[in-house]
Amino acid sequence: MPEVVSVSSSSLCCIFCVSAMRVAVIGAGVIGLSVAQSIYQHYHDKVSPLAIEIYADVFTPLTTSDGAAGLWQPYLYDRGNIQETKWNKETFDYLLSFLNSPESVNMGIFLQSGYNLCTEHVLEPSFKDIVLGFRELTQRELDMFPGYRFGWFNTALMVEGKTYLPWLMNWLTQRGIKFHHRKINSFKELADSGADVIINCSGVRSGELQHDPELTPGRGQIIKVDAPWLKHWILTHNFQEGIYCSPYIIPGSRLVTVGGTFQKGNWSHWNNSIDHKKIWEKACELEPSLKHARIVEDWTGLRPARNKVRLERETLQSGAKTFEVIHNYGHGGYGLTIHRGCAEEAARLFGEILQPKSKPKSRL
Ligand SMILES: Cc1cc2nc3c(=O)[nH]c(=O)nc-3n(C[C@H](O)[C@H](O)[C@H](O)COP(=O)(O)OP(=O)(O)OC[C@H]3O[C@@H](n4cnc5c(N)ncnc54)[C@H](O)[C@@H]3O)c2cc1C
Ligand SMILES: *[C@@H]1O[C@H](CO)[C@@H](O)[C@H](O)[C@H]1NC(C)=O
Ligand SMILES: *[C@@H]1O[C@H](CO)[C@@H](O)[C@H](O)[C@H]1NC(C)=O
Ligand SMILES: *[C@@H]1O[C@H](CO)[C@@H](O)[C@H](O)[C@H]1NC(C)=O
Repeated sequence: MPEVVSVSSSSLCCIFCVSAMRVAVIGAGVIGLSVAQSIYQHYHDKVSPLAIEIYADVFTPLTTSDGAAGLWQPYLYDRGNIQETKWNKETFDYLLSFLNSPESVNMGIFLQSGYNLCTEHVLEPSFKDIVLGFRELTQRELDMFPGYRFGWFNTALMVEGKTYLPWLMNWLTQRGIKFHHRKINSFKELADSGADVIINCSGVRSGELQHDPELTPGRGQIIKVDAPWLKHWILTHNFQEGIYCSPYIIPGSRLVTVGGTFQKGNWSHWNNSIDHKKIWEKACELEPSLKHARIVEDWTGLRPARNKVRLERETLQSGAKTFEVIHNYGHGGYGLTIHRGCAEEAARLFGEILQPKSKPKSRL
C-alpha cells in the first residue's frame, strides 16, 4: 500500500502528495508503453518518488504491435460501444496534434488516404466523423474496383509500431522508467517484490496470468512487399467472411502490407503457405499492379480478440498484502488505433487508486 504523507490543506502543493509508489507494467507492446507514458505524464509531479517499471518477455521489434500495418481504423461498427469510439477518437486527435511537429517523423506518424470497399450498400461506420474528409465513393472510383458496388474514401493516420515503439521506449528511458526483460508467471510475483499497482497489458497472452474465456487469438497472416507506387490503402469488407479475411493493402513508409486473415482461436505463429497463396491471389485481383511487387517477407501475429477491451480495476490479495491491478487488454485488430485513449483511461483509474488515501483528513 502506498504510504501517505499527511499534509494540511493550507500547504497543499499538489492534489495527491502520495509518496513512494511502485507501478509495474506487464507488456511492452503499444498498450504497455503508452500506459507507462500517460501515468508518467499525469503523476510524476504528484507522487514522489513514482517508480514505473516495465516487464516483458518480448520487446520491439518483435511484438505484435511491431508487425501490425499501423493504419488508424477501428472495426466498421462499434455496436453501441461508444466508450471505445471515444478512445479511438482521442487517439486520432492526439496523433493528429503531432503532425505539424518535426517529432512526427520520429514517432512514425503520417497521414494517408484510402478506400473502404463493400460489395453491398451498408450503414456508415462509427468512425466517419473522426477521420478527415469522409465521403461516399463516386461511380468513377467504384469503376476502378470491379466487384465492389459501394464504399467510402477518407484520410486517416498511420502510426507504425516499428518506429513508434522505439520512440516510446526512448521517451520513457529518458525519464527514468526501467525495463526488465523477463516473463511474469503471476501477479503475486510482482506484488511480493514490492509493486503497489500492476498494470496488465499483456495482449493476447493475458489469459496465462488470469484465465479469461472471452479472450482469444485472432490469427493474422500478412505479406510485406516492396511496391512504392502504391499510395492509398484499400480495405475490402465481406460480411460473410468476416473482418480482415477479405483482401487489404496498406502502404507503409517503406513496405506495403498485404492481408489478410483473422482466424479466431488459432494460436499458430507460423506462416502458412496456403494462407500466403490465398492472400496473394485475392490481393492481386484487387490491385493487379501487385504482380510487379517484390515480396519481402511474411509475418503472422495474434490479435488479442475480445468482445470489447477490458479496462478496469481489480483489488487482489497476496498473503497479507493488498495490491491493485489495472487490466488493459483485448484490443483486437485496433490496438494502435485505440491505444492513447485507453492509456489515458488507465491513468485516470490509477488516479482513483491514489485519491481516497491521499485526501487530507480535514477534507474527508
Ligand atoms: C496482421 C495484423 C495486422 C494488424 N494491423 C493493425 C493496424 O493496422 N492498426 C491497428 O490499430 N492494429 C492492428 N493490429 C492489431 C494490433 O497489432 C494489436 O491490437 C496490438 O498490437 C495489441 O497491443 P498489445 O500491446 O496489447 O500487445 P503486444 O504488442 O502483443 O504486446 C504484448 C506484450 O506483453 C508481453 N507479455 C505478455 N505476457 C507476458 C508475460 N507473462 N510476462 C512478461 N511479458 C508478457 C509481451 O512480451 C509483449 O511485450 C494488427 C494485428 C495483426 C495481427
Ligand atoms: C492480465 O491480462 C490478461 C489478458 O492480457 C488476462 O488474461 C490475465 O488474466 C490478466 N492477469 C491478471 C492477473 O488479471
Ligand atoms: C491454424 O492455422 C494454421 C496456419 O494457417 C493451420 O495450419 C492450422 O491447421 C490451424 N489450426 C487450427 C486449430 O485451426
Ligand atoms: C515467417 O516468415 C518470415 C520471413 O518471411 C520470418 O522472418 C518469420 O520468422 C516467419 N515466422 C515463423 C514463425 O516462422
